[in-house]
Amino acid sequence: KKVAVLISGSGSNMLALAKAASAVDYPADIVGVISDRPDAGGLAKAAALGIPTAAFARKDYAGKAAHEAAIRAELEKLSPDILCLAGYMRLLSGDFIRAYEGRIVNIHPALLPLFPGLHTHQRALDAGMRIAGCTVHFVTEGMDEGPIVAQAAVPVLPGDDADTLAARVLTVEHRIYPAALKLFAEGKVKMEGGKAVFTEGL
Ligand code: GRF
Repeated sequence: KKVAVLISGSGSNMLALAKAASAVDYPADIVGVISDRPDAGGLAKAAALGIPTAAFARKDYAGKAAHEAAIRAELEKLSPDILCLAGYMRLLSGDFIRAYEGRIVNIHPALLPLFPGLHTHQRALDAGMRIAGCTVHFVTEGMDEGPIVAQAAVPVLPGDDADTLAARVLTVEHRIYPAALKLFAEGKVKMEGGKAVFTEGL
């Protein structure tokens, strides 16, 4: 399966996916990395691996529709089967999502449905959570509310702050995202009727 990855920042999740996909028996290849920020650190990391990159700065476009049109034109060239959002910090329009219905996944740094949105680690700490974690989910029009594909949990430790917790969650993000993408690329999970349907024993 051909996978395009959308990033906005350091791209550590993109890198984890790219490393996993470089294995000869992995059922997906990363065919391109696209960012909404020309200064995204992940672009250089992708380029260093020989993965085609493209950036489309939001400020270069009159509105959201024009910005997404530019990104979608680039995606047409790559013709991916799957889109992976990896630290992509912009909401996709309904039109965009419908164009890739059931073929977009995202990683969110919290155990959804808890803590959708931003600042998830601080919110978990403020809530006194004793576990935290991350979620890979299908992307639907609502923010961080699509059907869940996979989750991983980590302990919240005494003395944790948002940074120490984020670092601990990031390590399991880098494990669970490649595993979830593998399942999806192998057709062992798909989105059907708004649910994640697992078609074979895990
Ligand atoms: C990660 O916590 C990811 O879950 C969130 O953005 C953060 C940075 O991701 N979506 P990356 O290092 O750019 O992959």
